[in-house]
Amino acid sequence: MSDSKPSIPAQPIAPRANVSICFVCLGNICRSPTAEGVMLQLVADRGLTEHIRIDSAGTGAYHVGEPADARSAAAAKQKGVHLPSRARLFVADDLETFDYVVAMDSKNFAHIERMARSRAQLEKVSLLRSFSVDGGPLDVPDPYYADNFDEVFEICRSGCEGLLDHIVRRHGLPG
Ligand code: 4NP
Repeated sequence: MSDSKPSIPAQPIAPRANVSICFVCLGNICRSPTAEGVMLQLVADRGLTEHIRIDSAGTGAYHVGEPADARSAAAAKQKGVHLPSRARLFVADDLETFDYVVAMDSKNFAHIERMARSRAQLEKVSLLRSFSVDGGPLDVPDPYYADNFDEVFEICRSGCEGLLDHIVRRHGLPG
C-alpha cells in the first residue's frame, strides 16, 4: 500500500460561476456593453457575482478593442453603472461556452442563429426584451445615430431585471 499523501491544494478552489451570459449587439460599444454593465451591477446587488459570469460581444468587427461608446458610458455613469467592456467579435465558440446568448435586436438574433451548429446551441439564444415586463417592442433600438442613450439604458435595465429573475428561478440561485 502506498504511503503517499493525497495532494491538498494550498488555496481553496474558487467556486465556479454556474451560469454564464453573453450579451450581443452589432458594434459591441453601445447596447451590449450597457446590458453587461447593468447586469454586473444587478448581480452584485443581489450577492450573485460568484454564480453568474457576464460578457458581451458584437456581430460586426468595426470597433474591436474599443471601450464602450462615450455616450453609453455617460448615460450609464449618470445612473451609477460602470461599463467595463472592450469590444470583441462574437465567435461560434461563444455558443458553446455561454449558457445564455442574449441578442439586442432581431438582426443580431438572426446572425447568431446562422452560426448555431445544434439545437442545444439554438436554444441558448434569446432577445433581451423578451424578458422585460415593460411590454415594449422586442428590439433594443440602435442608439449609435439616434442618440437615445438614456432610453436605451432604461430598456436594458428592464430587460436585465427580467432576465436575472428568470435565471435565479430557473437555476435555483440564492436570492
Ligand atoms: P451597438 O451600436 O451595436 O449597440 O454597439 C452600434 C455601434 C456602432 C455602429 C452601429 C451600431 N457602427 O455602425 O459603427
